[in-house]
Amino acid sequence: MEIFKISGQVPLKGEVELHGAKNSALPILCACVLVKGECEIHNCPDLSDVRTTIRILESLGCKVKRQGDTVTVDSSEITGSQIDENVMRTMRSSILFLGSLVSRTGCASIYLPGGCDIGARPVDMHISALKSLGAAVKENGSSITCCADKITGTKIILPFASVGATENIMIAAAVSVGRTTIVNPAREPEICDLAEFLNKCGARIYGAGESIVEIEGVSSLHPCEHRIIPDRILASTYMSACAITGGDIVINDVRPTHLSPVFPVFGEMGCRLYLEHNKLKIQAPKRLRRVKMIKTMPYPAFPTDSQSLVTAALTVARGTSVVKENIFENRFRFVNQLNRFGADVQVEEQMAVINGVKSLHGADVYATDLRGGAALVIAGLAAEGNSIVRSIRHIDRGYAEFEKRLQQLGADIKRVKDEEIREEKGPAVQKETESL
Ligand code: EPZ
Repeated sequence: MEIFKISGQVPLKGEVELHGAKNSALPILCACVLVKGECEIHNCPDLSDVRTTIRILESLGCKVKRQGDTVTVDSSEITGSQIDENVMRTMRSSILFLGSLVSRTGCASIYLPGGCDIGARPVDMHISALKSLGAAVKENGSSITCCADKITGTKIILPFASVGATENIMIAAAVSVGRTTIVNPAREPEICDLAEFLNKCGARIYGAGESIVEIEGVSSLHPCEHRIIPDRILASTYMSACAITGGDIVINDVRPTHLSPVFPVFGEMGCRLYLEHNKLKIQAPKRLRRVKMIKTMPYPAFPTDSQSLVTAALTVARGTSVVKENIFENRFRFVNQLNRFGADVQVEEQMAVINGVKSLHGADVYATDLRGGAALVIAGLAAEGNSIVRSIRHIDRGYAEFEKRLQQLGADIKRVKDEEIREEKGPAVQKETESL
């Protein structure tokens, strides 16, 4: 098992790049199943979730190659329509194969992905949308078979602006008969990126990013080349790491509009932000100020994926901050670990009250989920002394070479095998590791 070993209190300095957005790469790779031919996807990050999605594509008969950050997917031949149960459980976003498989092959057999560390994460909206588009759905325990001779356009009103359900509908209805209207769609930048990819392949999707999306079904799609948008959540991760360490960094390849929901929060913290084209310079104050209230909501409001990162930064702010999590019921699960650094965060239902402390001390913690894990690294970067973050496989799902990019900014962070630490620390750590 690998862990991160961090020696804190180094103010981050320097420049860093953003890699492509995980939450754009995954739906776009799933959508490649619709295209008979070879698509070229540029700026595709090399993440464990992307590698899992590529393995699923190959299991379905696609030929996939990676050259640097370009992934080519040839879906000329699709030989399967079933997603392995274990894969569904480890990566719930494999539900995004539902729409493309039903559309391309007429049938898809998947498993209910089940909950994860941040919540129950049901897929009822995905299933009911596929039914509205003409699919017959058979549920047998946790397995679902979804079949349709053809996809027929219809009007779908989403009770909640679900990102995944919006993406599955766009993918399923791209090649269909008639018009599909999505009312109350998700408006995240990743939705617009998926629509742009599909339209480059010949789809007719209008209004992505707005409050109504219209999809004029076409008979088939052709291959295209596409460059994935930069990862806005990675940007807010670097911003939080800079903020908590009193740093001064430049983040390249940002899309300012994608970050507009988080700018006011960093401003309220006392950070100075300078934008020049796609370069963002952020200068943190010696000590952060508290943020009165943050509420996570669908885009263009403050993103739930940035919540853990900013919660970590606010642990050392002057004063008390409040964060309300409105999207996932269990997204403060990382706070128990965060408090082991000497932070004072009290969670009541889906509200976190963060009483800022002057400084954090080193701790031995384990990641509970992707963004919660990144939040623990952020705390370790500010903590006095050495810290260890375990279960970093969660972090590798969404951050490529996380430690290398933080080292580029001067952070003292290493990826080591945990036996190296056990040798260093002896039996105490042994017991601790076993109990984790
Ligand atoms: C996407 O998840 C992202 N994942 C998540 O990022 C992100 O946190 C989330 O959108 C919200 O922005 C990917 O894009 C791969 P939702 P998704 O459907 O599509 C409920 C990360 O850290 N819901 O918008 O699963 C659901 O339980 C990950 O990068 C239903 O009830 O999110 C949740 O409470 C984590 N029924 C809310 O809607 C459904 O059928 C939002 O979920 C679908 C969702």
